Amino acid sequence: MNVLLTGASGFVGQHLRQALARAGHAVVPVSRRDGVDMTRLSTPQRWWPHLNGIDAVINAAGIISQTRRQSFAALHDQAPRALFEACVQSGVPRVVQISALGADNTAFSAYHLSKRAADDALRQLPLAWFVLRPSLVHGAGGVSTALFNRLARLPAIPVVGDGGQRIQPVHIDDLVATVMQCLSAPQARRTLDVVGPQALRVVDWLQRLRVAQGLPPGRVCHLPHALVLGLTALCQPFSPLLRVDNLRMLQAGNVADVAPLAAFLGDMPQAPVTPASGGQP
Ligand SMILES: NC(=O)c1ccc[n+]([C@@H]2O[C@H](COP(=O)([O-])OP(=O)(O)OC[C@H]3O[C@@H](n4cnc5c(N)ncnc54)[C@H](OP(=O)(O)O)[C@@H]3O)[C@@H](O)[C@H]2O)c1
Repeated sequence: MNVLLTGASGFVGQHLRQALARAGHAVVPVSRRDGVDMTRLSTPQRWWPHLNGIDAVINAAGIISQTRRQSFAALHDQAPRALFEACVQSGVPRVVQISALGADNTAFSAYHLSKRAADDALRQLPLAWFVLRPSLVHGAGGVSTALFNRLARLPAIPVVGDGGQRIQPVHIDDLVATVMQCLSAPQARRTLDVVGPQALRVVDWLQRLRVAQGLPPGRVCHLPHALVLGLTALCQPFSPLLRVDNLRMLQAGNVADVAPLAAFLGDMPQAPVTPASGGQP
């Protein structure tokens, strides 16, 4: 197949690019590093030249925080919406949209709302579509993976409040396997939550990451929510993950039923971290 892959230079995109190449597909990459700024492709017509001979589109472009140069609305909603409409007009039959867990009717953050807007637009179109909503994705090259690994190695592991926020990390290989299956699955027009096998408290996730990096379980430092809010606002320049809205999303929790994904894959997704992995995802 000829596959147009947006976000091809990113964490998820690079893993997908390798898997697509291994499976014998030809990849047309889209990212600024590949010379294409999607926010300039805000109408279907502008996408037409990119869709010649394309059999499937995977949209894996995204940002976790807005900047002065690009907004969630432009990158998550306007450009993908134009891309999906261009697929209908150009006869591209299949689209896989990488959304995010929480981009549903509980969404409150600008991030989730912009994802949900594009997901909803795609669901209206006469295409073989898949909307994948991954939880926290764990694996080599992930910005959040690196941040959580660093936090887990600190002499005292910092958590917000009691660290009981619930997350359900999924291994990058399971997300990639899901996308690959979407390229050929006969039953399309599906929304799937892409989550790991087990919901965990953040504090337990950090302890697992610590042990996986060869350290004994560590002391936990409980930080008051108000203090973390202040620190997050102060430290914004150091990581795109450090945003008040991202903290609010973490507080709200990020879990889902794994059964539909396991049924789709024909197997349970793997535990994203095991002590034997030696800290390397
Ligand atoms: N990682 C996770 O835990 C996670 C969880 C749930 C959902 N997701 C979603 O999965 C998708 C991929 O995430 P990721 O972790 O791979 O993020 P990432 O590593 O930050 O990659 C983002 C990709 O988007 C591209 N991009 C950003 N602005 C662009 C623009 N104006 N034009 C074209 N491409 C642009 C980037 O390429 P350039 O910078 O080269 O332009 C890069 O290839 C995102 O939609 C994200 O919301 C990720």
